[in-house]
Amino acid sequence: MLGARVTTQRFAQTSRSTPLKTLLPAVPGHAHRRDQTFAGGSLRSAFLQASPALALGLHAWTRAARLRGLRRFASAEGTSGGMKAVTVSKYGDATQVMEITDVEKPTPAAGQVLVKNVAIATNPIDYKAAAGVLAPGAEAPDKRLIVGWDCAGVVEKAGEGVTDFQAGDNVWFAGDITKDGCFAEYTAIDARLISKKPESMSFEDAAALPLTFQTAWEGLVEQMNVQKGKTIFVLNGAGGLGSIVIQLAKHLGLTVIASASREETVSWCKKMGADHIINHRNELKSQLAEAGYPTVDYLFNAHENDRLGELIQLLSVDGKIAITFFANREHLETVDFQTMWMKRQSLVHTFMFGRAMFDANPEMVGGVMASCAKLVDSGIIKSTATTKFKSLTEIQEAIKVQMSGKAMGKIVLTV
Ligand SMILES: NC(=O)c1ccc[n+]([C@@H]2O[C@H](COP(=O)([O-])OP(=O)(O)OC[C@H]3O[C@@H](n4cnc5c(N)ncnc54)[C@H](OP(=O)(O)O)[C@@H]3O)[C@@H](O)[C@H]2O)c1
Repeated sequence: MLGARVTTQRFAQTSRSTPLKTLLPAVPGHAHRRDQTFAGGSLRSAFLQASPALALGLHAWTRAARLRGLRRFASAEGTSGGMKAVTVSKYGDATQVMEITDVEKPTPAAGQVLVKNVAIATNPIDYKAAAGVLAPGAEAPDKRLIVGWDCAGVVEKAGEGVTDFQAGDNVWFAGDITKDGCFAEYTAIDARLISKKPESMSFEDAAALPLTFQTAWEGLVEQMNVQKGKTIFVLNGAGGLGSIVIQLAKHLGLTVIASASREETVSWCKKMGADHIINHRNELKSQLAEAGYPTVDYLFNAHENDRLGELIQLLSVDGKIAITFFANREHLETVDFQTMWMKRQSLVHTFMFGRAMFDANPEMVGGVMASCAKLVDSGIIKSTATTKFKSLTEIQEAIKVQMSGKAMGKIVLTV
């Protein structure tokens, strides 16, 4: 994405006197309006239409520029009253260690907003965090952990220094894995990590998207810098992540081959926009060849890395694979790095919490969410919510579905 970022920076420089509100993302229906408001707009529009990936990046970049300066943010969260939350006090099986408890309601610190959570969604990271995967060797978190990192809600209060959001704004976010999550009545969250939620979508349908869209964006746009007209194979097309990777990849002009193993997941992948489906329970290379693609330009591994060596053999020369969980020594031993080197192939990582965790342009996170909201309101991105629970008290049931390995799309709970 380096080239793209340089290009977007150049745009920012050439338009220094242009109000930032005119730098809209290139989504259908907005191009005409942008041409009317931006001097030299037709050249820019042509560029943006030719490259939707860069257009999305531009929006994230301009939002980052707008929020730059908001550097102070919370390290300490205060409290005011109580609330219900899903907490973990000792690592283990999520169905055993997640419990609903009364905790203190947070107060937004400088740079944060306090959100009244309306709907939340589950992800594998919930049960992985509950199991202590992110704290190897530890038996319990230092402080009780509030899990959950996918939310749509309403801003109740903006903390000091926050100018982009105010009480009453409908927002959405995934959040920061190093801080309390959103399976709770309220969350205090860094304002740089949120955006306004899509106006055309319910809180429940919106809550399904933040974490997975962010990951799909990172893999496709930032890390692999996918190019229109190329091919991608999405391993695990029907999960929460694969469902949005398929949609975004289609929007970016790729031919998408996805994998699914059941009738309902095959139909779901087609509904998400996949051009071809193969079965991940069987050998992959021959199925891909049969579908007309002996190799693919990109591969999005929306599953564990137990087949990493086999997956890399599906890549073309100069091909790229994005993985979504860390590859351990056992996984890496299956990879023929010499052939990868000769074929000039790349292995890239997605970890959507990385920006917040390492303070690496966290503004980009809110910017990407704002781009996603535009894509939703333009009818390009659809919700991936399939299973809905009516109350946070049903979290155990929801987590069981999430842990079953058979979740299709996303599981959402009204708080
Ligand atoms: N790096 C990041 O930032 C990030 C973000 C989000 C997710 N992730 C990771 O991405 C992975 C997928 O997440 P998710 O939310 O999509 O999971 P998920 O919703 O639990 O995925 C469920 C799907 O997995 C499929 N599946 C089961 N066994 C499979 C196999 N052996 N090979 C391929 N697919 C299989 C099933 O499809 P069938 O029923 O058709 O078999 C099922 O529909 C997880 O490991 C998660 O931790 C990482």
